[in-house]
Amino acid sequence: MYYSEDIVEEVRMKNDIVDVISGYVKLQKKGSSYFGLCPFHNEKSPSFSVSPGKQMYYCFGCGAGGNVITFLMEYENYTFPEALKALADRAGVELPQKEPTREERAQADLRSAILEINKLAAEYFYHQLKQPQGRAGYEYLKGRKLSDETIRRFGLGFANKTSDDLYRFLKAKGYRDDLLKETGLVTIEERGAHDKFWNRVMFPIMDVNSRVIGFGGRVMGDGTPKYLNSPETRVFDKSRNLYGLNYARTARTRTILLCEGYMDVIAMHQAGFSNSVASLGTAFTPQHAALLKRYADLVILTYDSDGAGVKAALRAIPILKEAGIPCRVLNMQPYKDPDEFIKNLGADAFRERIEKARNSFLFEIDVLKRDFHMEDPEEKTRFYNAAARKLLEFPEALERDNYIQAVAREHMISYPDLKQLVNRLGSRLGPAPEPEKAERPAGGAAKKEKDSGLLRSQRLLLTWLIENPKLYEKIRGILTPEDFRDGLYHQAAEEVFAGCEKGDVNPARILNRFINDEEQYREAAALFHADLQESLTNEEQKKALTETVVKVKMHSLDEASRKAADIGQLQEIIRARSALKTLHISLD
Ligand code: UTP
Ligand code: MN
Repeated sequence: MYYSEDIVEEVRMKNDIVDVISGYVKLQKKGSSYFGLCPFHNEKSPSFSVSPGKQMYYCFGCGAGGNVITFLMEYENYTFPEALKALADRAGVELPQKEPTREERAQADLRSAILEINKLAAEYFYHQLKQPQGRAGYEYLKGRKLSDETIRRFGLGFANKTSDDLYRFLKAKGYRDDLLKETGLVTIEERGAHDKFWNRVMFPIMDVNSRVIGFGGRVMGDGTPKYLNSPETRVFDKSRNLYGLNYARTARTRTILLCEGYMDVIAMHQAGFSNSVASLGTAFTPQHAALLKRYADLVILTYDSDGAGVKAALRAIPILKEAGIPCRVLNMQPYKDPDEFIKNLGADAFRERIEKARNSFLFEIDVLKRDFHMEDPEEKTRFYNAAARKLLEFPEALERDNYIQAVAREHMISYPDLKQLVNRLGSRLGPAPEPEKAERPAGGAAKKEKDSGLLRSQRLLLTWLIENPKLYEKIRGILTPEDFRDGLYHQAAEEVFAGCEKGDVNPARILNRFINDEEQYREAAALFHADLQESLTNEEQKKALTETVVKVKMHSLDEASRKAADIGQLQEIIRARSALKTLHISLD
């Protein structure tokens, strides 16, 4: 759905950012801004600021920033249209209803037809399970200690031994072959039609809204593949759906247990842990994390305790971290997975393991340690170095320090020694995380590669212009948006310069331009929040501004000279360069 810039801007303007954020974060006024505890990372002292003037928020701790729309996108994990809708409702703005195109309508019709057929198939499988021909399936599930209630709740079923009975059932309902093909439930070849699932117990896969989007079918006993799954279809995207989430979302807790398998989810639900979900036989993805974020403040990983499970956990942890969801790891030993654990030790023992689940960072360190022979002094040293390097992942000093203490305590090294090691490594590995203020580690690509003084200068200039549009007078004629070479900076500069020209610079509106790309708007938000050196004297400010302008311009000229087409252009550039050497910008 496309919304015009005007309507987006209207919605944004009618929702004062301080009002909206106050609903989520306790804010206190300090000077011209409001401050509170950042909702996007853990902190004890407020570094999250909301500026009523700019209508923007920014966290000096973690770098989260944006306008009122991006705040809702991040906090509620809304998509852009969802955030816009929520704010429009809040302010009583009516969003235009766009007529879907014919193509869009056809796609929507196709999707709902597939969902309808899936539902019929699920009912069919469920019905078969209770028939004489489904007996093997029913007994298999019973043998796995599932109650009738559990079977009903998860809609478990049975695909017969006959090779095309589902196909015939659906044909009799009047569905055409080409539509049936789209469901992935049947294959249609010259020789005839076949059901994909055959002699298996069936697990319907539901989305958060309990619509059947696909199936997993398990062989009864040994055989390969153990589980056969629906192919991806118009309605089934494995990387965006989690098995069991339709029930877990209504569990009255914001802790979610994340496991590997269908049977694990079902066993956990049956034992009373209805807050458990599984990724669908695929690796956990950032899209899964974004989905979970709507329902979870804490994830407990209950992956299998074998090597593959540990590996999967190590991959999931950074994805969850990146999504801002803290996580812990549950120890299932001596059992392989939650299903087996609960069958053997029961729900109370499982609950105890949940309570004891390991902090994910400390778990990562545990796993790291397995690679080193700690009896060997040299290996031991290498382990401490590796641990220290990993500790540098924490950008915030306080948090990092807490972990240094924990790791020191648990791994037989003194706290001062480990701390010293971390600090030494930090200063050797380039830009050490600053004491209290650190840049978000996962900034945009531009930031990662070359957050040199140059980009910082460009940020400073943009921030200065927004804080004090009068500066524009001083630099117009010297700098143009073309001098901001990086794509994002260039776009932002264009907007800011145009705003200054009109005497109306509106950073929150400028952000709208980047809203469709999370990475971009984060970076754009940071652009307008470069650290201001408010304590500079007038003389120092003058010097800083001149230097910054010269730096940006010089670089731009260098770039231009590399691309210059003829000698005339080059001479022009050389002239501009020497003019720069004597530039002095006065502030008065
Ligand atoms: P597991 O092999 O751990 O199976 O695979 P499980 O869940 O413990 O199943 P049971 O208890 O033996 O019946 C974990 C998940 O990986 C996917 C399924 O989603 C399964 O639940 N998987 C596994 C497949 O999709 N295909 C397979 O052949 C195997
Ligand atoms: Mn299992």
